[in-house]
Amino acid sequence: MRNEIITPTDREAQLLVHRAGRTPVYTYSRAALRDAVERVRAASVLGADIYYSLKANPYAGVVNALSTLVDGFDVCSLAEMETALNAGMPPDKVLFTGPAKSREEAAAALAAQVAVTVESPRQARLFVETAVELGVNGRTVVRLNTPYPGRTPAAAPYPNQFGVSQDDVAEVMDILRASSLSVAGLQLFWGSQYSDADVILAARKAMTEQARACADQFGLELDLVSIGGGIAMPWCDADPAVDWAGLKAANLDPGLPNGNDPLPLVCEYGRSIVGPAGSLLTTVLDTKSIGDRRYVLVDAGMNHVLIASRLVAGAGRGEPRVRVVGAQERAITSRACVTGPLCSQLDMLAEDIQLPEVETGDLLLFSGLGAYGPTFSPSGFLSRDKVREIIF
Ligand SMILES: Cc1ncc(COP(=O)(O)O)c(C=O)c1O
Repeated sequence: MRNEIITPTDREAQLLVHRAGRTPVYTYSRAALRDAVERVRAASVLGADIYYSLKANPYAGVVNALSTLVDGFDVCSLAEMETALNAGMPPDKVLFTGPAKSREEAAAALAAQVAVTVESPRQARLFVETAVELGVNGRTVVRLNTPYPGRTPAAAPYPNQFGVSQDDVAEVMDILRASSLSVAGLQLFWGSQYSDADVILAARKAMTEQARACADQFGLELDLVSIGGGIAMPWCDADPAVDWAGLKAANLDPGLPNGNDPLPLVCEYGRSIVGPAGSLLTTVLDTKSIGDRRYVLVDAGMNHVLIASRLVAGAGRGEPRVRVVGAQERAITSRACVTGPLCSQLDMLAEDIQLPEVETGDLLLFSGLGAYGPTFSPSGFLSRDKVREIIF
């Protein structure tokens, strides 16, 4: 298997900027998407369907490329649902998730024959009423509230607002089973950004057991049991690497975690599929030194790449991976801070990193930024232009 993160070569990067018309531009590698799906499939429960969560990156080029690589899509808005359907994913392989859907969203999902997650008795009634109004049947997936394993309460607070409380599951089942809506599935999601195979395997086991107990209690015939994904995207060198080998090895034990009477399991992933495929190309607008700090000011800001800024990364998280395009020959003589063009001190994209000397007009490439990019960033701040995106 190839290197996890795939970036354009220097020549490709220069041509991609010409293709995009300007920087900043995110570039996504089709080869990296293919590798990533292969990698997560091998590291998931044997035989489980792989769903991609558009929240990590809803760019149509990426979603279209993934539509033939994964088995289904998880969407969280009407726009994401349309992107998923436009990519050719059959409606019965699209799952509309999220803890509180509006009447409009309920109607649109039911009209499109897309399955919806149900996360409370009131939401169950909303879907039932909407199905009656529209005169349609529909498929529901009951999301069960579940704690996040392997984390301190501070890092993953519990309780959280997601899914149906244990106390309300019977009521939700009663509401749905008295209607034209089927209970086709269960969803249990236990968190993100885990790299330790033992934690992930224990979570899969716990989720599968909880789903099986619920199916037995209510006599459900399920065609989808989503047990989450959770696999991390190590976005900087300081983040622990994912134990791919440990996850893959677990698949050699056919009894785990699904047993002899297998549930139709789905594993849903966002960041681990798209994270390694994305790079951000940005142009140097200015350089200067103030005190003992060298600043490199670029045309991408936290309005395009919030995840790299101090707001998300904080001060101690580690720095994203950056290279200067076409600078192999240049020596690194000092450290630098890469900052964006916004008038905010939070607009620091990489602090005190090893970087060759650069000049105005040079191209910097940030890698491993394919997940939670443009749509996770405050693009309205300062009313500046949106970042471009391109797939190659
Ligand atoms: C229900 C659900 N599914 C999938 C995801 C995608 O998670 P990740 O990007 O960590 O794979 C999330 C992330 O918040 C989620 O809440």
